[in-house]
Amino acid sequence: MTGTAAAEESTTADTLASFEKTSDPRLKELLEGLVLRLHGYVRELRPTLEEWERAVEFLTAVGQKCDNTRQEFILLSDVLGVSMMVETVNGHGGGTESTVLGPFHVVESPARDSGDSIDLMGGGKLCVVSVRVTSTDGAPLAGASVDVWQCTEEGFYDVQQPGVQPLGNGRGLFRTDGEGHLWFRTVVPSHYPIPTDGPVGELLRATERHPYRPAHIHFIVAADGHRPLTTHVFVADSPHIDSDAVFAVKESLVVDFGLVDDEEKARRYGVTGPFREAEFDIVVEPESQPGSEPERERESEEAGR
Ligand code: BEZ
Ligand code: FE
Repeated sequence: MTGTAAAEESTTADTLASFEKTSDPRLKELLEGLVLRLHGYVRELRPTLEEWERAVEFLTAVGQKCDNTRQEFILLSDVLGVSMMVETVNGHGGGTESTVLGPFHVVESPARDSGDSIDLMGGGKLCVVSVRVTSTDGAPLAGASVDVWQCTEEGFYDVQQPGVQPLGNGRGLFRTDGEGHLWFRTVVPSHYPIPTDGPVGELLRATERHPYRPAHIHFIVAADGHRPLTTHVFVADSPHIDSDAVFAVKESLVVDFGLVDDEEKARRYGVTGPFREAEFDIVVEPESQPGSEPERERESEEAGR
């Protein structure tokens, strides 16, 4: 072994040894895994001191760009595919697939009743969104909380346009009725570019990547006895549906926002004229169903007893 290789190995060994006394075993595992991989990266790619300094400057700029309504670190994790990877490894046990949270869930959604409009601007093209929340066995879930947020027809979230949009535009916190159902009025959201005025935008330009996300509506669904779910529905005919800047599209989440020109249906919703409609189920998984992580933990605890 050369002197350099021995020094490299002892740096890794010393760093790993520094975690010896960590009492939380999971924290120890995560830190050791991180150090092993970071050291491996440096030893393989051998960045120069200038390149390392540039990386530190970049991460500093990412932190400095963050405030109460801007989360550049989430954005960085998103464009590197890490957010989506965390969603993916956390599996899928028969419920609706999850996808990224994104950086715009930064204000509390106003409580709203089923049938309300979340479009506080008015003047847009009407869209009705109708959702049924069920468990994996198909049973409707009454009283589930459904947090919704979306951008405008122009592709901006309320927090991106203070003074133009009122805070809470495009947002709502709903509860399902006895049949697990809720609906709301809105506009069809647009595809939009993720924010590119910060260091993440610099990274996209340096790698000649486009910044667009296909049109979607965000949901966080929470029901008693079930795992909370963070997901989207994507508008089927949206531009960029096949090239999301943050890799978050899953085929099962793509929904038709079809045009409805049916007076009887309009009357049922209490609206007039043609409108776009999206109707879908969101399925959440019981907290401990066979094969789920908590259930596996419970089984192995019982086996060890
Ligand atoms: C969003 O959908 O709000 C979003 C997700 C990832 C990056 C930027 C925006
Ligand atoms: Fe979004």
